Amino acid sequence: MLSIKNLNKTYAGGFQALKDVDLEINQGEIFALLGPNGAGKTTLINVVCGIVKPTSGSVLVNGYDAVSDYRATRSIIGLVPQELPVETFESVWKTANFSRGLFGRLSNPDHVEQVLRSLSLWDKKDSRIIELSGGMKRRVLIAKALSHEPDLLFLDEPTAGVDVELRQDMWNVVSSLRESGVTVILTTHYIEEAEEMADRVGVINHGEIILVQEKVSLMQELGKKQLFLHLHEPLSEVPTHLNPYGLEVSGDGFELIYTYDTKEEHTGITSLLGELQESGIGFNDLRTSQSSLEEIFVDLVKRPA
Ligand SMILES: Nc1ncnc2c1ncn2[C@@H]1O[C@H](COP(=O)(O)OP(=O)(O)OP(=O)(O)O)[C@@H](O)[C@H]1O
Ligand SMILES: [Mg+2]
Repeated sequence: MLSIKNLNKTYAGGFQALKDVDLEINQGEIFALLGPNGAGKTTLINVVCGIVKPTSGSVLVNGYDAVSDYRATRSIIGLVPQELPVETFESVWKTANFSRGLFGRLSNPDHVEQVLRSLSLWDKKDSRIIELSGGMKRRVLIAKALSHEPDLLFLDEPTAGVDVELRQDMWNVVSSLRESGVTVILTTHYIEEAEEMADRVGVINHGEIILVQEKVSLMQELGKKQLFLHLHEPLSEVPTHLNPYGLEVSGDGFELIYTYDTKEEHTGITSLLGELQESGIGFNDLRTSQSSLEEIFVDLVKRPA
């Protein structure tokens, strides 16, 4: 659906915002592009959408060149921009319907109604955009992008500054888009959002894509798992014969923490529990926790380039 090769962007002031970006996005996938402020996410999206002109490299959307075949590519792309565009006096209903016309789609009030309802905007359909709150305006941007039924949808921080409910609405909208085969590329600073929605995750830092991977395998590969044992009696230190397990003791001495690798054939849990029993260390509760995508992400972008 999207093929980006050797893409570079240097802004007029001389700042290089994208460095040799290569990225292939399959039809129907949900791709989350993550990266710190200023990493180049919006620049990348804007190049694909024809808003920013690339310095070099190629961008193909469904086989069409995003620069020379601008019209062909733009007609199948939907964009929810990061910045709220100028305020308008038009109604929500008219704005959403007008957006269809802009993309050469026949009017389809049923579709627009369904989009507005899915974003909890139906009761605001007659309100003028300028009278809406910030979060509501963002919902309208999403409704506009969805109203013309794009094949490739960009969501540039769609849930920045919106309430929990819209975030939930968004997740539902994206999962129904997934079912209808729409390809979605989203950026977000709420990593749990990517964890919830994405099939694949890309990380961009200082204009370079530093990682692209299936979310599930990424979390398995880079994530670690920990076992927390709550002890009957507090321990001041780990008995030396347990040193090979690399255990940690919590501040109050009541919790023993074992970090293990789920990919290993032997996690060491069985033998650890056996040795604890032999040493007379009893416990009355246990839990495990897996590192989140957020922890993995923070580790990745902290690494020296
Ligand atoms: N029009 C412009 N002229 C010059 N530099 C720009 C322009 N637009 C963006 N930049 C610079 O390019 C870099 C990447 O910006 P971009 O907006 O793509 O980042 P981003 O990853 O979307 O960040 P954020 O998470 O804050 O939205 C930044 O250093 C920014 O200052
Ligand atoms: Mg941005």
